[in-house]
Amino acid sequence: MMFKITLGILFLGLVSAQLNNPIVKTPLGKIRGTILKTEKDREFYAFRGIKYAEAPIGDKRFKAPIAVTKPWNGEYDATKDGYMCPQVGPSEDIMSEDCLIVNVYTTNLNASKPVIVYIHGGSDKDGGSHSVREAGPEYLMESEIVLVSLNYRLNALGFLTTRTAEAPGNFGFLDQVMALKWVRDNIGHFGGNSSSVTIFGFSAGGMAVTLHVASPLSRGLFHRAIAMSGSAVNEQAIDNLHWTRKLAHETSCPMFNPEDLLSCLRKVPWQTIVEVCKRWDLYGFADMKWNYEVDGHFLDFRPSQYFARGNFSHVPILTGLSRDEFNFMSLGLENKPGHLNDIDMNLEKYSREFFMHDFGDPAEKKVEQLKTFYFKNQTMSKANLDRFGEALSDSFINHGVHRLVDLARKFVPVYYYRFDYKGSVGEFPSIDSIGHGVDQFYIFKIGKFGGKLINPQDKDWVMLEKMVGILSTFAQTGVPPEFGSLKWQPSNKTNINTLYINETFKMDSRPYPERFQLWDTLFPVENIGSRSSICLTIILIAVAVLNVFI
Ligand SMILES: *[C@@H]1O[C@H](CO)[C@@H](O)[C@H](O)[C@H]1NC(C)=O
Ligand SMILES: *[C@@H]1O[C@H](CO)[C@@H](O)[C@H](O)[C@H]1NC(C)=O
Ligand SMILES: *[C@@H]1O[C@H](CO)[C@@H](O)[C@H](O)[C@H]1NC(C)=O
Ligand SMILES: *[C@@H]1O[C@H](CO)[C@@H](O)[C@H](O)[C@H]1NC(C)=O
Ligand SMILES: *[C@@H]1O[C@H](CO)[C@@H](O)[C@H](O)[C@H]1NC(C)=O
Ligand SMILES: *[C@@H]1O[C@H](CO)[C@@H](O)[C@H](O)[C@H]1NC(C)=O
Repeated sequence: MMFKITLGILFLGLVSAQLNNPIVKTPLGKIRGTILKTEKDREFYAFRGIKYAEAPIGDKRFKAPIAVTKPWNGEYDATKDGYMCPQVGPSEDIMSEDCLIVNVYTTNLNASKPVIVYIHGGSDKDGGSHSVREAGPEYLMESEIVLVSLNYRLNALGFLTTRTAEAPGNFGFLDQVMALKWVRDNIGHFGGNSSSVTIFGFSAGGMAVTLHVASPLSRGLFHRAIAMSGSAVNEQAIDNLHWTRKLAHETSCPMFNPEDLLSCLRKVPWQTIVEVCKRWDLYGFADMKWNYEVDGHFLDFRPSQYFARGNFSHVPILTGLSRDEFNFMSLGLENKPGHLNDIDMNLEKYSREFFMHDFGDPAEKKVEQLKTFYFKNQTMSKANLDRFGEALSDSFINHGVHRLVDLARKFVPVYYYRFDYKGSVGEFPSIDSIGHGVDQFYIFKIGKFGGKLINPQDKDWVMLEKMVGILSTFAQTGVPPEFGSLKWQPSNKTNINTLYINETFKMDSRPYPERFQLWDTLFPVENIGSRSSICLTIILIAVAVLNVFI
C-alpha cells in the first residue's frame, strides 16, 4: 500500500515535471527551464543562467572569455537565475565570478521569432540580467519576440588593463560578443530567428550597444540596435590604466610590470577588488572609471571616429534620452555649502572627475565657457544647482546620444526620442524629474528598488504597452510602429527629427540645441584621417631615410 502511494506520487511528480519544465536540445546537451507568466497570464518559457563562457577565475581572470564547448550529460538546470557578477550592492550569496550567463525567454520553442538581446546598464560596474531584481521579462513577453538578457564582467574584473598583450582590457565587451555568438549559434533551438537580432542596451548598456555597432568584432552578429540613455559616441576621458595601477597600489600589488601586477591581482579576492574600487566614488555622481580601451582588437579607434567616417555596422538605430537624465544628481549638494563653494572656486580642478572629459591643460579656458553657459556667470549655489545637474547630464549621457544621432543619421535611419512622461513608477517617484532610467520601468519589471511596479489596471499600463510596442515592432521590422496618424520620422541627412514621448506623442525638432552646440564646440570629433595620414607620411619618410642609409 505504502509502496503504491509512493510510486503514485513519484509518477505524478514526473508528469508534472514534464509539464512544468520545458526541455530544449542544444548541440552541447539538454537545457531544462521553467514556465513563467506575464501580468496578463500569458505563459512563457524561461531558461535562466545558461553559461556561455567558462568561469573567468584564477589564471583566466583579466583575460578574454573562453566559450563553453564541453557537452554535458543529462539536463542543464536553467530553472533559476545564475550568479550576478561581483559588484557593490547585492548580497554576497547571489554573486560569483562565475557569472557569464544568458537568460532566454520565449513563448514558442517551435517558432522563428525576432530576438532582442538586452545589455544591462550600471556604469560598467553594477547591474545584471537577474530576472527579479533588474530585468524582469514579463512585460516584453506580452509581445512576439524572443528575449535574451546577458551578464558581462564588471568593474576592474571586466575592464582592467595593462595596455599590453598580457591584459589589453575590454573583457566585459568581449563577454558580450561571446554572448552574441551564443545567440547566433543557439537561439534557433529556442524559437528565435538568428537572422533577426536586435541589441538593446540602457545607460552603460546603451554605450556598449554603440561600441558593438562600431567594433569590427561584432559585425554580422546583430541587425538592429537600440541605445537608450547611453552612447559611447562622445569624447569622454578614459584612463583604465590609471585605475588599474591605483587598484594595484591599494591592494599592495606591484604597479607597473604587467606580469607582476597581474599575477598578484589574480590572487586578490573579488570582494577586496570591489571594496577598494568602491572607495573611489566620493561625491555621489555617476562616473565611468572603467570603460573601453582602443586595443587594436575590439576597437581600432574611438567610437565617434568610426561613426564620423561611416565605418560601422549599417543597421537601423533607435536611441534617445529621458528629459532630465542626471539633473537630480546635483541635488546631493543642496545642503553642502562648503562643497558648493569649493566646486565653484575650483571647477577646473574637479572638471575631469565630474564631467569625465579632458578639459585640456590648463583647463580654465574650457571650464570658463562651461560656467558662462550653464551659470550665466553667477556663483554656483542652491539656486542654480539644476543647471549643474544639466551639465552632468550632458557630459555623461546627453551629448553622446546627440553625437550618435548626428553622425549616424548620414548613413542609416536613426529613430530619436525624448522621454517626457511622468508616471507613478521609478526609482525616485517623489521628485519632479523625468530622470535616468525612468523609462526602463515601462520595459522591465525592476524589483531592486522595492517600489511600485505596473499592472494592467494602472494608468501607466498604456505607456507600458506603447514602449513594449516600440521595442518589439522595431525588433520585428527595423521600423517603429505608427501611433494613430503620427509617423515617427527618422533623423536623416538633412533633419534631426525627434519623437517626444508623453501622454500624447509628437514629432518636433531636436532637444537642447544650445547645450549640445556647446559640447560640440568644446569637444569636436578628433579627425583621425589627418592624423593617420601624418603617421603614414612619417613612416614613408622613415623608410626613405632608411633606404638612403642601407
Ligand atoms: C514544429 O515544427 C515542425 C516543422 O515545422 C512540425 O513538424 C512540428 O509538428 C511542430 N511541432 C509542434 C509542437 O508544433
Ligand atoms: C528570419 O529573419 C530574416 C531577416 O529578417 C527573414 O528574412 C526570415 O524570413 C526570418 N525567418 C523566419 C523563418 O521567419
Ligand atoms: C574601418 O574599421 C576597420 C576596423 O577597425 C579598419 O580596419 C578599417 O581601416 C576602417 N576603414 C576605414 C575606411 O576607415
Ligand atoms: C559672462 O562673462 C563673460 C566674460 O566675462 C562675458 O563675455 C559674458 O557676456 C558674460 N555672460 C553673461 C550671460 O553675463
Ligand atoms: C528627411 O526627413 C525630413 C523630415 O521628416 C523629410 O521631409 C525628408 O524627405 C527626409 N529626407 C530624406 C533624404 O529622406
Ligand atoms: C507631458 O504631458 C503632461 C500631461 O499632459 C504635461 O503636464 C507635461 O507638461 C508634458 N511634458 C512636457 C515636457 O511637455
